[in-house]
Amino acid sequence: MSQSATFDIRPLTPAIGAEILGADLAQLTNAQFASIHEALINHQVVFFRDQHLSCEQHIAFARRFGALQVHPMSQYNHPDHPELLRIHADENSKAVAGEIWHTDVSAQQEPPMASILYLKEVPAVGGDTLFASMTAAYDALSRPMQQFLEGLTAVHDGAKIWSKVSSVPPGASYPRSVHPVVAVHPDTGRKLLFVNQVFTSHVEGLSEHESETLLAMLYRHIENPKFMCRFRWQANSMAIWDNRCTQHQAIFDYFPARRSGLRATVSGTRPLAVDQAATQSVLSRDADLQAA
Ligand code: SIN
Repeated sequence: MSQSATFDIRPLTPAIGAEILGADLAQLTNAQFASIHEALINHQVVFFRDQHLSCEQHIAFARRFGALQVHPMSQYNHPDHPELLRIHADENSKAVAGEIWHTDVSAQQEPPMASILYLKEVPAVGGDTLFASMTAAYDALSRPMQQFLEGLTAVHDGAKIWSKVSSVPPGASYPRSVHPVVAVHPDTGRKLLFVNQVFTSHVEGLSEHESETLLAMLYRHIENPKFMCRFRWQANSMAIWDNRCTQHQAIFDYFPARRSGLRATVSGTRPLAVDQAATQSVLSRDADLQAA
């Protein structure tokens, strides 16, 4: 257990996840918020229990991380608070959001920086969420494989998943973007795997067979329990994940029980490839030297 200035921060596994005790997310000082932000960067996903926030307070807390985005599939958004995505399952549900390993909305050019999920109602047992560290997954690859992947880009296509569940409004289209297969975390500089089963359609420049085989290998690699933690929800728990370096999977093992809550999504920036990150770091060192 490590102590922040204010809170007890209890890591769940060496690779990923920490539970933060003693925080009231409805009223945080700037110093307290800074220690939560730092814990998120260090542990990639952080969890809180026994939180009591209105929609407005949930939104206000999420905005401390950055501007919020409205989910592109607007039919799932809260009618009065479009920045909040409804996460809901009950006796009528045949499937739930997030059952397959994914990074949120990676089909966007600028995928979210973070997601902040607050569940008010949970099953007596079941409905856990798994989280996996994409920096740990990258670190565990052999050096030749890391080098091969660092030169590759992949297409992330919203139609791959959303065309099955809904159609876009007339004139609109599903988001579709090209991202590096290995990205660099903008805050930590750590390299990470940035492909996921839900949105990544193919790796550019490879044959279909090569792309499918490579992605299948990476998805199997990512599912190593050493890179994961598992969160057992209680009513009024909150999870915040750094969407730039994690994937998650919601386990739908609780039918017909109810599980219900809201997710705020914080806007992010374009994932940086290894060579772009190196160029940016040289440019920012240059700027520092000019300013000095
Ligand atoms: C999601 O993918 O945002 C849903 C996660 C969950 O319901 O646990």
